[in-house]
Amino acid sequence: MPRKGLSNFDDYDDGFDDEDDAYDYDYDIDIDEHEEEEAAEPKEEIAKKGLWRCAICTYDNDESMFVCDICGVLRHPVAGNQSINKTTAPFKFGAPSPDDLVSNGLTSSKAGPKGSGDASMRQKEKQDSAEQKPLKKGGDNSETSSRGRHDKLDNSFSKGGAGGIKSGKSLPKAKADMSTETSSSSKYLETSESLTGTMNKMSLIGETENTSEIKIRGPRSQSKHKPEEWMLLDKESDALSQLNLAIVGHVDSGKSTLSGRLLHLLGRISQKQMHKYEKEAKLQGKGSFAYAWALDESAEERERGITMTVAVAYFNSKRHHVVLLDSPGHKDFVPNMIAGATQADAAILVIDASVGAFEAGFDNLKGQTREHARVLRGFGVEQVIVAVNKMDIVGYSKERFDLIKQHVGSFLQSCRFKDSSLTWIPLSAMENQNLVVAPSDNRLSSWYQGPCLLDAVDSVKSPDRDVSKPLLMPICDAVRSTSQGQVSACGKLEAGAVRPGSKIMVMPSGDQGTVRSLERDSQACTIARAGDNVAIALQGIDANQVMAGDVLCHPDFPVSVATHLELMVLVLEGATPILLGSQLEFHVHHAKEAATVVKLVAMLDPKTGQPTKKSPRCLTAKQSAMLEVSLQNPVCVETFSESRALGRVFLRSSGRTVAMGKVTRIIQDL
Ligand code: GTP
Ligand code: MG
Repeated sequence: MPRKGLSNFDDYDDGFDDEDDAYDYDYDIDIDEHEEEEAAEPKEEIAKKGLWRCAICTYDNDESMFVCDICGVLRHPVAGNQSINKTTAPFKFGAPSPDDLVSNGLTSSKAGPKGSGDASMRQKEKQDSAEQKPLKKGGDNSETSSRGRHDKLDNSFSKGGAGGIKSGKSLPKAKADMSTETSSSSKYLETSESLTGTMNKMSLIGETENTSEIKIRGPRSQSKHKPEEWMLLDKESDALSQLNLAIVGHVDSGKSTLSGRLLHLLGRISQKQMHKYEKEAKLQGKGSFAYAWALDESAEERERGITMTVAVAYFNSKRHHVVLLDSPGHKDFVPNMIAGATQADAAILVIDASVGAFEAGFDNLKGQTREHARVLRGFGVEQVIVAVNKMDIVGYSKERFDLIKQHVGSFLQSCRFKDSSLTWIPLSAMENQNLVVAPSDNRLSSWYQGPCLLDAVDSVKSPDRDVSKPLLMPICDAVRSTSQGQVSACGKLEAGAVRPGSKIMVMPSGDQGTVRSLERDSQACTIARAGDNVAIALQGIDANQVMAGDVLCHPDFPVSVATHLELMVLVLEGATPILLGSQLEFHVHHAKEAATVVKLVAMLDPKTGQPTKKSPRCLTAKQSAMLEVSLQNPVCVETFSESRALGRVFLRSSGRTVAMGKVTRIIQDL
């Protein structure tokens, strides 16, 4: 069978390995025309005795299964009257989804148990259950745990928590005494109990707060934007460049421990603070999580021993102002990880080297290593540091490191990561080996003479920024003061620049106001340019009109707002087939919306990008295609050619990312 390349996805980022057409996945599925015809109207085929054959993927399932074990499609006709296994049934609006928990820092206590399939999770919960006392955090008022923000104002790193990101930006001093600070996103998500609920609430919010104002807007104004002089980069005034660095990887691989250790070694966490974490963690019987506690600040994260929302922290290396985005690894929180990855310029992919853990994390269906890597690539991240952690557990074995490098390396290559853009670092976060200086343990230093992690971070190139384009900042978190009616928007500037006094517009509401003040890493700053991760205090804007998923833009160059889009997508392996009428979750920057597939335009030849079949009836794993989606509510979006950050999309269903792609056309319904 021919191996499928994906050269039509080259546009994800130009300048990346254009000559390399080796974007192959590890397996080949060729569905012939006949099979596709069959797929639209699934009919049960007779397989061997005791088996039934899936009409979509032709896998022979055991008689006892009611959905296909491979593609998740319902057996047709369903045998007997038995109910359908809900854990594998395709996405349904009436059914609870793991993603309900994910959005914007929901607590599991509200949403019930989850992640039952994850052994490491179960282990931790069991271990925790005996002695957990929820931590009371100073300044944390009535919001969900991840909303606690004031308690973080004094930290050199901190996190908040809507849109799945705990913004590390503190509020302007004037706001520090807010008593009932809320975020728009948590407001409508805190009582969510099912995906239906979530989606309904989204539409409710739209109706009560936004819809009256929202107008579908076509492509952005093409008239020329003239940047003012202050907007352009003044290289001499600041020699360090901005680098947004996502820390990703399978659950429990040690991302937060690594981040905490790094921050401690670099002096961003004081010795006193570290002692406090150690003491508290020990008291809760979780001594090994002391460093992770620096990032996992919410009571629930600490109780469960997992990161749930992205934590934002800051440090400086020799060459960069680094914004560290410590992402959750657990499969239930992939949407939050996506929210972090959307801001990343580069990433550290953390792999657990210990025997069994690497294999579990790298597993195609149950592990998150591959999904995270694909998400990064989908967002155009090219440079990845692969941190092979927990090397202490395997005795710093070179053989183990080489084996992991070989497996992960060939997978990353198949995702079109260039070899030269990958750096491989064996380390131990727990034993502080190879983090900021060369390893001291002879078992590692005897065979590894490469850079330490910090040196590898320093050698990452920070990308060129679109400072001369009009302002675009997707909002990952909105922090409001109900007492003062003020609001701060947090996020990464994708284009343009702002300073206090700059006029801005919030989309999709269209509200206009000015920038009151700016903060980066708890410090007031005078200018924020593309690439900067900041909190922008807004003036003259109705606080209720700003929420995670909105976009700040230049009033003369409003971002497009749409409900009907044409997408070019790649269906990921293991995904349930996408059919006309399929209902999916649509993710773009920090916005999430319910979407219906309204047209399957054409299947594309993965090599040439040319249409191979018009109006296919079904899309299955590894196929690429053009399709149209209709969104339940309008979102701020741009075509990929106009803005990569606002034109990259993910489609999810039943708690899995099923396709990724880009917006090729904004369709205006009249
Ligand atoms: P999620 O955010 O939930 O995906 O987990 P994580 O990747 O952030 O892992 P975390 O830092 O919470 O660590 C998980 C466990 O691994 C903790 O018990 C850590 O002590 C342990 N751990 C982390 N790094 C190392 C290491 O280098 N060596 C050893 N032996 N254990 C480690
Ligand atoms: Mg973590």
